[in-house]
Amino acid sequence: MKKQLIQLIKTKLNQVLEKYGVKNDSSIDVQVPPDKKNGDYSINAAMKFAKLCKCPPQKLAAEIVSLLEAEKDWFSKVTIAGPGFINMYLSDTIIEKNFNELCESKKVLNLSVDEVIPTVVDYSSVNIAKQMHVGHLRSTIIGDVLARVIEALGNPVIRQNHLGDWGLPMAMVIYKAEPVIRKAEKEGVSLEEVLPLAELEKLYKAATAESKEDPKVATACHEYLVRLQQGDTELLDLWKKITRVSMAEVYRIYKLLNVKLTPKDERGESFYRDMLADTVAEIKKSGMLKEDEGALCVFLDEFKSKEGNPLPVIIQKSDGGYNYATFDLAAMRFRTHKLGAKRVIYVTDARQALHFKQVFATARATGILADPNVKLEHVPFGSILGEDNKPLKTRSGENVKLAELLKEAVERAYNVVNEKNPKLSDEQKQDVARMVGIGAIKYADLSQNRNNDYVFSFDRMLALNGNTAPYLQYAHARICSIFRKAGENIDTYSAKAVISSPEERELMLKIMSLENAVTAVASDLRPHVLCNYLYELSVCFSSFYDKCSVMNCEDAKIKASRLEICNMTRKTLAFGLDLLGIEVPREM
Ligand code: ARG
Repeated sequence: MKKQLIQLIKTKLNQVLEKYGVKNDSSIDVQVPPDKKNGDYSINAAMKFAKLCKCPPQKLAAEIVSLLEAEKDWFSKVTIAGPGFINMYLSDTIIEKNFNELCESKKVLNLSVDEVIPTVVDYSSVNIAKQMHVGHLRSTIIGDVLARVIEALGNPVIRQNHLGDWGLPMAMVIYKAEPVIRKAEKEGVSLEEVLPLAELEKLYKAATAESKEDPKVATACHEYLVRLQQGDTELLDLWKKITRVSMAEVYRIYKLLNVKLTPKDERGESFYRDMLADTVAEIKKSGMLKEDEGALCVFLDEFKSKEGNPLPVIIQKSDGGYNYATFDLAAMRFRTHKLGAKRVIYVTDARQALHFKQVFATARATGILADPNVKLEHVPFGSILGEDNKPLKTRSGENVKLAELLKEAVERAYNVVNEKNPKLSDEQKQDVARMVGIGAIKYADLSQNRNNDYVFSFDRMLALNGNTAPYLQYAHARICSIFRKAGENIDTYSAKAVISSPEERELMLKIMSLENAVTAVASDLRPHVLCNYLYELSVCFSSFYDKCSVMNCEDAKIKASRLEICNMTRKTLAFGLDLLGIEVPREM
């Protein structure tokens, strides 16, 4: 609805501006006033254009208001406040009309972008032979939401899992895993059995320690690296096997997390290995590649060390090896030239902020992007802290393993469900516990402004009150139960909605403002805006449900309308939570 409203206001505004010889193509900013008394929407255009029009803002506002007031279908009242704010009060008729149109469309989000932008979302991006830790949890779930939201608005989204699967660490794992794999193959034992991810990680740690102590091991690992990079088929075969066992566990976690990444989204660093030389050659063509102590670097004015010395982006090391940055530059060429991306989004923790600033600037300065207008965006996030305000660790001080964290969440959720609704069958309880436990972990993360660190607390995230997943899931289940009691089919129900109280009006407007939250997340890449919206929607629903009786409503038309409003609330909750990758039970 906001889109049509903006169009209408724009037309009226431009009619007034034209009289003053001012042409305006820019979009207008329609706000929702924090205090309901000031209307449903407001604009500050009169103040903004007063100077250009050489007309006092109050006078300009009066002229705009008189045009808007004439739109009786839309507005019940239009007023001027303060120095020239224009406050608009929507008519009940327009709210009912738009709401019923939305219901008839069988959607809750009836909106798509004007211009479609092919978008790459680089997220999760785990490292082979290392267990996923809580840092990868944030990238995985934040990235997944951004991909879903941008896609929901009609943009083609290409998910990319930029695996750390190439280079010395891989050579070291292969060096240690080779005898284990050979033995397992001889004995016909499956690799997943002898080399689960935890085991691979141990081998990697052992190789690191041994290389430090024994130069012979270090040399051997280096030889493995050279062979691997030269495409030695035997080593490549081992490398592939290790990647598969390692990823098998990662996919178990993705599945549990309800995250959409699949093997076809995998384009690890290894994928770019044959494009690195070309990338360096192209950077060289730009004339920006400088030699510094044998390494090939790009120096950009905006990057200086603390002492004020130029800070290089190292493209190729003096031993001929390539850096993390080189892989990213090669990936940017591929993504913009071959995948046709016009927007590339990277989701990693905030510690990589400088890295991305440098590679973005290098890519632009050296002209390796297919189109200079490609949007490159780093989406940083803070850390997950323990109750002691330090990065989350186990009691023995180790990194918390994601798989264990998720397991505990589901177990605790089971107890919550069991207490709330002991009548459910055990199978149902387990199913609901999974949705609630996993939902709680995801939501606790997503509902934070991602730049901040947050304290991980099972008790808080599983609370049935407040801005939590279980609260929203419970609101959804409650509406399902209203329908069961009313003996109506929730999946086919349809009735005309009418406004008979301020709470209904409020809730209908709130349902229709889902589009504002979704477009805001797609542009600012902050999932908590959608979480806040869903929370406000539930609160709005509670006040409606307190004031407006549904089951005992005597007027059949109003009762039917209220059921429709309940159902739209439920569908909006389910849709919004699905964008967050959170499932909703119908009973809990
Ligand atoms: N594998 C990296 C890590 O775990 C993250 C990669 C992020 N994506 C990228 N294109 N650099 O730190």
